[in-house]
Amino acid sequence: MTEPLKTSVCELLNIEYPIVLAGMGGASTPELAAAVSNAGGLGVLGAASCGPTRLRNWIKRTRELTDKPFGVDTLLPASVRRQEQVSVTGEPQQERSLDAHRAFAQSFMEEHGLDNQVNSLNSEAIEDDNDDGLVLFSEPFFRAQMEVIVEERVPVYAAGLGNPGPWMDQLKANDTKVICVVGAVRHAVQVASVGIDIVVAQGHDAGGHNSPVGTMALIPQVVDAMVDIPVLAAGGIADGRGVAAALMLGAEGVWVGSAFLAASEAGIYDFQKQALVDATEESTVISKSITGKPCRVLRSSWTMAWEKSELNPLPMPYQSMISDPVMAAAVSGQRVDVYPGIAGQGIGMIKAVRPAADILADYVQGARLALANRGID
Ligand SMILES: Cc1cc2nc3c(=O)[nH]c(=O)nc-3n(C[C@H](O)[C@H](O)[C@H](O)COP(=O)(O)O)c2cc1C
Repeated sequence: MTEPLKTSVCELLNIEYPIVLAGMGGASTPELAAAVSNAGGLGVLGAASCGPTRLRNWIKRTRELTDKPFGVDTLLPASVRRQEQVSVTGEPQQERSLDAHRAFAQSFMEEHGLDNQVNSLNSEAIEDDNDDGLVLFSEPFFRAQMEVIVEERVPVYAAGLGNPGPWMDQLKANDTKVICVVGAVRHAVQVASVGIDIVVAQGHDAGGHNSPVGTMALIPQVVDAMVDIPVLAAGGIADGRGVAAALMLGAEGVWVGSAFLAASEAGIYDFQKQALVDATEESTVISKSITGKPCRVLRSSWTMAWEKSELNPLPMPYQSMISDPVMAAAVSGQRVDVYPGIAGQGIGMIKAVRPAADILADYVQGARLALANRGID
């Protein structure tokens, strides 16, 4: 039996262990979130690109799979809400820029033998659930997601990016616990002022959109800036030693992404899980080539093509329009050379694909061992 590992967030979130599955777009599915919650952690759905219908379906499915608390993670980026005012086709400079980028993607696909008839990953996801044409990452899209989160009274809401301030009254009225992911002390201070419950300090080691500040330096500085708000540490925490280190730095738990990507239940493809197992700590790179924001991903021919190119990736959300057909074709063709996926620097510690419950149990045991056996006088 796994020994207890209790901190303040266990009581706050009504969970056994202070280990939270990070919201990972598409990868943190109902199956994975429920598996983590059932094993005593907190499963969080990676619902960033779920339109309202799919989001409601995911919440329903999660409730069918677990009676434990779970969370929903979406993005609320202010910059994207501002950009939404600019028409993609109506602004001449943007139009020219899109043309050049589309031509770049087209010639990349030809050069790499990719099928350009594959449907876009994101539009496919939205159309499947019949979401009547909401533009991904547009202001109406975010608003519709938040309406579902409020209506469904989810136990936990996590803003992976941005400030949930406008929704706090409704979330609090539902007793939804609110988590915000930040990469700098000033962002932590901003979100703390709207009354959130938990801050995630996510450092440069992390998979996905991350901070310029390293995890080791970021955690204690965010902890020091938060008076009554517990901090979860994120970025490169891929086994129990990382949990122990995070607790030593003042965090009350961890927010884990990449290590759970290699779970049997994770919503990525088997060839991508194998790529994680095969990767080392040197296999990732920060690239804007997929979303337009700096994002830690596994190095690939796509990221390298952009490094060599004189074109700069477009800002979010436009770069996704360029990369989406390429990623879809790569996934459909199982092209690990083009899109092995998004991951953090901790992946060198991932040695096998295993059930999420086993991964979680190892985190807990490894943390307890590290905390008990350091043996330094
Ligand atoms: C495949 C993948 C997808 C991600 N997608 C999202 C997302 O949609 N929303 C979000 O808030 N963070 C996202 N992240 C970041 C994670 O929530 C988390 O902060 C990060 O994975 C922690 O670092 P680690 O990967 O080193 O554990 C993603 C990370 C990965 C690896």
